Amino acid sequence: MRLGPVTAVLAALGLALVFLMNPNLAGRAQTADDGGSLEDVPFTGAEAVIPYVIPRSGPFNSEDIEIENNTAIADWFRSAHANAAAEAFRHWDEEGEIRAECSVCHSGAGFRSFHGLDGSEPGIPAEPVDVGGVVDCETCHNPGLSRITEIEMPSGILHPVEGVEAACMTCHQGRTAGADVEAAVAQLPDDTPDPGIRFVNPHYATAAATWLGGYGGAGYQYPGRSYSGRFFHARPIGSCASCHQPHTLEVQVETCATCHEAAEPQAIRISRQSYDGSGDTGQGIAADIRNNADLLLGFVARYGAEIAGTPVLYDGSRYPYFFADANDDGMADTADGRPVAYASWTPRMLRAAYNWKLVAADSGAYAHNPHYALELLYDSIADLAGALGVEMSEVGITR
Ligand code: HEC
Ligand code: HEC
Ligand code: HEC
Ligand code: HEC
Ligand code: HEC
Repeated sequence: MRLGPVTAVLAALGLALVFLMNPNLAGRAQTADDGGSLEDVPFTGAEAVIPYVIPRSGPFNSEDIEIENNTAIADWFRSAHANAAAEAFRHWDEEGEIRAECSVCHSGAGFRSFHGLDGSEPGIPAEPVDVGGVVDCETCHNPGLSRITEIEMPSGILHPVEGVEAACMTCHQGRTAGADVEAAVAQLPDDTPDPGIRFVNPHYATAAATWLGGYGGAGYQYPGRSYSGRFFHARPIGSCASCHQPHTLEVQVETCATCHEAAEPQAIRISRQSYDGSGDTGQGIAADIRNNADLLLGFVARYGAEIAGTPVLYDGSRYPYFFADANDDGMADTADGRPVAYASWTPRMLRAAYNWKLVAADSGAYAHNPHYALELLYDSIADLAGALGVEMSEVGITR
C-alpha cells in the first residue's frame, strides 16, 4: 500500500518534528556556524542544501510551515527507495528483524550503523535491525558521509569516494566477486559435474560493481584476458547522480541529449563495431549486450545438456534461479512439490552462468560499463563454445 500525497506531507512534517525535538539535529540542519556541519553536508558538486527547514520557534501551525523540501520529498516518496511494500524491504517481515549483514543495504538504520554514523563502531551491525526501514533521507543527507573516503567492494579493492557516492557505492555493489566463483571451484576439473557446487548469485542492482569494470573485479575474469576498467564516460558525467536524479532515481534523459542524439538511453550507441554479429550499428549498444546475453544463456543450456549431462532451466522469479530439467520438457523437475535446484554444475558452467547473471542483474549495464559487459559475455561464450567444439567464427560475435 502506498500513501497519498497528503500523508506524504504529514510524514515529512513528522520528520521535521524529529529534528525539532532533537536540538542537535535541528541545529545542524539550520545553522552554518555550529561546528561547520553545513559544509559537511555531502552533496557532490552542488552547494550545500538544507534537508529540513522548520521554523525556529513555535507556536506551530501547519498552514504557517512552509515545506521547502516538498519536491524532494514527493519525488523520493514515489521512488523505489521509499517503497516500503517492496520485497527488498519486506523480505524479513516474518522473522521480525532484519539480519545484521542484510540490514546494511536494506534499511537506512543498518546503513548508518555499518558506517558508524549512529555512533556505533563501524562494521556489520552488532544486532539485527528493526523491520520497516527504507532508504530514508538521512541515509544520503548525513554529514558523516563526507568522512567516508573509500568503500570496500566485494573483490576486496578499496575505491575512493566523495560525498553521497559513498552511499550509492555501498548498497549497489552486489555481494560477490569473480574471485568468489573461482574459490568455489578451485582445483576441480573444468568439465566434471559436482553436486557440491552451488550457484553463486551476484545479488541485485549491482550498478556500482559493473561501473568499476575489471578494476572492481565483479565478474569472473578469464585468465590471460584483459578487461576494461572503470567506465569514465565523459565530463561532466562522472557519478551516479550525474545521470540519476537522486530522489526519483530516474535517468535524466535531457542530460544525455547534450552529447547523444538518441531519443532514449536504450538507443544510444557510439561504437562503430557490431558486437552481436548482426552487423547492425544503428541499434543501441544495449541491444548488442542483450543479444549476446541471450546467446550466452543458450550456450549455458546447451553445455548443461551435452556436457554436464543434465538440462538446466532458468527461472528468474525463484531463487536459486537455475533448476534441473532432467526430462527436458521445459519445466523444472519437482521434488515434494518444489522445483529442484540445479545440481550438476561444472566449474566451467558456473563461471559462465555467473557472468550471465551479473550482466543481467544490472539493467543499466549498457550505460554503466558497456565494454566490460560485452567482454564478460564474449569470453564466457568462447569458453563454453570451446568445450562444445564450436568455432567462434561460426558464432560470429566480436569482443
Ligand atoms: C551490498 C548491499 C546488499 C546487501 C549486503 C544485501 N542486499 Fe539484498 N539487495 C540489495 C539491493 C541494492 C537490492 C535491490 C534490487 C532491486 O530490487 O532493484 C536488493 C534486493 C534484495 C531482494 C529483492 C530481490 C527481488 O527479487 O526483488 C532480496 C530478497 C534481498 N535483496 C535479500 C537479501 C538478503 C537475504 C541479504 C542478507 C543475507 C541481502 N539481501 C543483503 C543490496 C544488498
Ligand atoms: C539516495 C540518496 C538520497 C536520498 C534517500 C535523499 N536524498 Fe535529497 N539529495 C540527494 C542528493 C545527491 C542531492 C543533491 C542533488 C544535486 O546535487 O543536484 C539531494 C538534494 C536534496 C535537496 C536540495 C534540492 C534538490 O532537490 O536538489 C533537498 C531539499 C533534499 N535533497 C531533501 C531530501 C529529503 C527531504 C529526503 C527524504 C524524503 C531526501 N532528500 C532523500 C540524495 C538523496
Ligand atoms: C541503504 C542502501 C541504499 C543506498 C544508500 C542507495 N540505494 Fe538505491 N536502492 C536500494 C534498494 C534496496 C533498492 C531497491 C528498492 C526497491 O526494490 O523498492 C534501490 C533501488 C535503486 C534504483 C531503482 C532500481 C529499481 O529496481 O527500480 C536506483 C536507480 C537506485 N537505487 C540508485 C541509487 C543511487 C543513484 C544511489 C545514491 C545516490 C542509491 N541508489 C543509494 C538501496 C540503496
Ligand atoms: C551514464 C549515465 C549513468 C551513470 C553514471 C549511472 N547510471 Fe545507473 N542507469 C543508467 C541507465 C541508462 C540505466 C537503465 C535505465 C533503464 O534502462 O531503464 C541505469 C540503471 C540503473 C539501475 C537499475 C534501475 C532499474 O530500474 O532496474 C540502478 C540500480 C542504477 N542504475 C544505479 C546506479 C548507480 C548506483 C550508479 C553509480 C555507481 C549509476 N547507476 C550510474 C545510467 C547511468
Ligand atoms: C558530456 C557528453 C556526454 C553526456 C552528457 C553523456 N554521454 Fe554517454 N558517452 C559519451 C562519450 C564520449 C561516450 C564514449 C565513451 C567511451 O566509450 O569511452 C559515451 C558512451 C555512452 C554509451 C556507450 C555507447 C557505446 O556504443 O559504447 C552509453 C550507453 C551512454 N554513453 C549513455 C549515456 C546516457 C544514458 C547519458 C545520460 C544519462 C549519457 N550517456 C550522457 C558522452 C556523453
